[in-house]
Amino acid sequence: MIKIASKNINFLEKVSKIPVLKHFFILKISENFNDIKSELVLNKFYRDIWVNDKTSKKTEKKRFSDLDIPSFELMKENKDYIIHDIAVSNGICSNDFYELLAEKKKKFEFYISDKFAEIKVKKGFITKAYDNENHLIFAYAGCFYAADKNTFFPLTVLLFKLLQKNKTPEKFDYSLLLLHPEVSEKVKKKKFKFISYDIFNTEIHEKFTFVRAMNILNLGYFNEDKIRTAVINIKKSMKENAVLLVGRTNAKKINNASFFRKQNNKLAHLKDINEGSEIKKIIENL
Ligand SMILES: C[S@@+](CC[C@H](N)C(=O)[O-])C[C@H]1O[C@@H](n2cnc3c(N)ncnc32)[C@H](O)[C@@H]1O
Repeated sequence: MIKIASKNINFLEKVSKIPVLKHFFILKISENFNDIKSELVLNKFYRDIWVNDKTSKKTEKKRFSDLDIPSFELMKENKDYIIHDIAVSNGICSNDFYELLAEKKKKFEFYISDKFAEIKVKKGFITKAYDNENHLIFAYAGCFYAADKNTFFPLTVLLFKLLQKNKTPEKFDYSLLLLHPEVSEKVKKKKFKFISYDIFNTEIHEKFTFVRAMNILNLGYFNEDKIRTAVINIKKSMKENAVLLVGRTNAKKINNASFFRKQNNKLAHLKDINEGSEIKKIIENL
């Protein structure tokens, strides 16, 4: 059954719409995750995945087509192009930016990160998937049960709560980086370097000349203190003269974003796209 499912994309596309079944099939075949080429199936999987804070995994191709050219123009003032795209979800927007830079035939290093890109799987009578902080994300037994934050059948909610109380396995059978296939391919070819980076805690010192943090430092996700902590942390990771892009895509798919340049340990405002970032004042007052 699993063999048939993994070779039959139409079938997978249908089951991926059924909450209770989708993780079962997709995770069962996930050891071959990178071979699933269907955008529909992959998007369903990435987007519905449970993230252990208020953020979502939502992203889409060409989301930043109005930001990529100004980013490139502002980057040009630096000799080196060392880019870090933070909280990339499946990384498809990093891929768009990569293609633009490659077209311009520039030499660049491109780092991508996302705290919750990796899931770790323990197989068994009940197969369980965990995030990198060892929180249970979802689980299934046979094909009858799967639980995540979007599944509200009372029995599955109860079972999920019980399973959350179980001890986290010491060893996992395999882990997956939930990246878009085009991004995985570039990681394999070392065109992208995937790094582990938690926007609040990971310290990197004066490495990057361009940093992008889109749709992560939103006031709807984190309070001002948390956002300040994250921006101070990002600033540390930037070289003098490096450029920072932060912003949020609104419900009408408009990117309200702002660019800053690191100068004398401050982030000086450079320009806004549309209304600018909602956290512009926080950054300017750091
Ligand atoms: C809405 S997505 C943004 C994706 C992409 N940047 C975009 O704008 O299309 C938010 C991402 O932030 C990641 N995330 C959540 N908390 C994080 C943290 N503390 N550090 C780094 N990434 C985090 C989530 O895993 C999720 O993939």
